[in-house]
Amino acid sequence: MIQPSRAIHVLPIFFFLFLFLFSIAGASPGWSDQGSLLVRNISDVSQSNFERGGLAHITVAGAVLHGMKEVEVWLQTFAPGSRTPIHRHSCEEVFVVLKGKGTLLLASSSSKFPGKPQEFPIYANSTFSVPVNDPHQVWNTDDVEDLQMLVVISRPPVKIFIYEDWDMPHTAAKLKFPYYWDEEAYYSPKDEL
Ligand SMILES: *[C@@H]1O[C@H](CO)[C@@H](O)[C@H](O)[C@H]1NC(C)=O
Ligand SMILES: *[C@@H]1O[C@H](CO)[C@@H](O)[C@H](O)[C@H]1NC(C)=O
Repeated sequence: MIQPSRAIHVLPIFFFLFLFLFSIAGASPGWSDQGSLLVRNISDVSQSNFERGGLAHITVAGAVLHGMKEVEVWLQTFAPGSRTPIHRHSCEEVFVVLKGKGTLLLASSSSKFPGKPQEFPIYANSTFSVPVNDPHQVWNTDDVEDLQMLVVISRPPVKIFIYEDWDMPHTAAKLKFPYYWDEEAYYSPKDEL
């Protein structure tokens, strides 16, 4: 007499266990295209300078390219003398310098405009993170060696506000979205005249 009632209690457990296993098995690995390859050789991933002189950018794992939701990872190489624009964004950003050296210029978001930035030397095997919304610029100040960095940002795809100089008010900085390496992958509607 006890058996049937036991079965009734145990059945829902099996049902939820089944649902759980099914959801694990069905979980998307997050690589929505590129042949769903989990392990990829970075040497074979296409890189571009996106018409920014001296830059070689590889999106290692991206929102637009790979369906990343929380973070995005880039591998960026700056030729001697080249630099990022002065810019800010409301995401977290972590750098790991793999090769070369340069300067991080960092200003604050607390006054009307960035003002004179602080300068920090960066070097191979150094790491730094840029505070959310603080205007900054990374510059390869070396004469001969490339500066190569692994860059991780949160909340992709990145929305970047660009400053012409350190005295431009924060409110005048220009939004660039989608950013160059995301541009091609977005559908862009034609202007209606
Ligand atoms: C990765 O790609 C590079 C360039 O195509 C190649 O030389 C290298 O052998 C590849 N590595 C592996 C482990 O396949
Ligand atoms: C970076 O530092 C770590 C920890 O000391 C070390 O294991 C690694 O070899 C260093 N890498 C380079 C490129 O110097």
